[in-house]
Amino acid sequence: MTGNTQAFDHWIRTRFVELNSKLESLYAQQADRANVEGVGEDLKFQLESEGRELIACLLAEGNTDEGFDHAFDLLGNVGLYMAACRRHEITEPSRERVSPLTEASALAMHIGASIGVTPRFATAHLTTHNRAHQGLYKRFTDLDAEQLFVDYNTKGILAYKRAADALLKIQPLGIDHPIAYDLLLVAKRALRDVIESNRVLFQRLDADDFFYCVRPYYKPYRVGSQIYRGANAGDFAGINVIDMLLGLCSANEPGYSQMLVDKFLYMMPEDQAILRDCMRRTSFMDELLNLSHFSAEPWYQQNVKLFLEVCALHGETAIQHHNELVAKYIAQPSKTMEQQHMSKVTASGPPLDVLLNSLEKLRDRRAAAKRSDIRTRYEDIQSLLASMEA
Ligand code: HEM
Repeated sequence: MTGNTQAFDHWIRTRFVELNSKLESLYAQQADRANVEGVGEDLKFQLESEGRELIACLLAEGNTDEGFDHAFDLLGNVGLYMAACRRHEITEPSRERVSPLTEASALAMHIGASIGVTPRFATAHLTTHNRAHQGLYKRFTDLDAEQLFVDYNTKGILAYKRAADALLKIQPLGIDHPIAYDLLLVAKRALRDVIESNRVLFQRLDADDFFYCVRPYYKPYRVGSQIYRGANAGDFAGINVIDMLLGLCSANEPGYSQMLVDKFLYMMPEDQAILRDCMRRTSFMDELLNLSHFSAEPWYQQNVKLFLEVCALHGETAIQHHNELVAKYIAQPSKTMEQQHMSKVTASGPPLDVLLNSLEKLRDRRAAAKRSDIRTRYEDIQSLLASMEA
């Protein structure tokens, strides 16, 4: 790490957190917690100018070619700074045509393009690739709600990845292999871990704190002239690997492939490669449907039963995400705020009903729900269930 990189990283881990936390406490004291205008202007000025100065040194230093890990980490730091400026409305994409954070944009675009990722901070920067220093990892604020959210996003992502890794290992063996059973068991345990960690998050995270003090750091912002959508916990390959290997979702459906295309650059390059490979494979569900004439065989009964349990658990995680997490922390508070601040809600991304509608379709595909307007595997799951001996 160069001296300039180190100085910026130190600032992000200390002063940056202090300034954001102070601003959050000022916003929270207002009757209208959503307002940021005219509050803590001196703190906002310090945040913007201190960050700009450190970034200008990094930009002048140029590409020091210190390898992927350092470049990715630095991009994350620049991204945290730009996201915080957006949160405090120091920048606002609908107000501007080009980001006023000229130096930060230039550095982010240089790094992003050179390592093959989007030039903004992504979920991996805060979760799976967030290096701790003496037990403390990078955050925007010192708020408990933020730590809880990031901790449980990381746990959820890692558990999904464990399930995906196990399913990927079935590929060369075949779903009818006796050891495929062991790997399905690993996937089943991992999906249960997702359910458990989502349950704790739902129980412990305060809806107002999340909505007013955590979520605003995840809004879309401009880098150079282009607006990049906010980061979300889904920006890793594992969830889609599970979808497609099980056969619950398919890459040749427009609604689903649109989402895959949109998320590629938000993932780590190794995840991009895994997802690309997975998009070309056939699913276990299709393989099993083709083997149904062996339904009397013990291996068929054993592996299909477990396969169906894994599908059901994957569906359960999606139902939980949509009906609990999205409903409690996004849909309900947005509706309340919409009545007070119509413009603020629509300025922060796609209209809420469009977003909820697409998440609902994903939920129903994963849960193989009976729907006539989109393709789900409801009938195929029923036919596999029917092939099970009582
Ligand atoms: C996407 C909300 C926690 C996994 C999304 C989106 C929202 C959301 C609104 C859609 C983003 C967009 O398209 O703009 C929440 C809330 C959470 C939460 C409010 C908790 C308070 C989690 C956790 C996981 C997760 C713990 C587990 C890894 C995903 C995935 C996606 C996603 C995989 C991408 C869409 C999909 O494939 O389903 N989330 N989320 N989320 N989230 Fe969460």
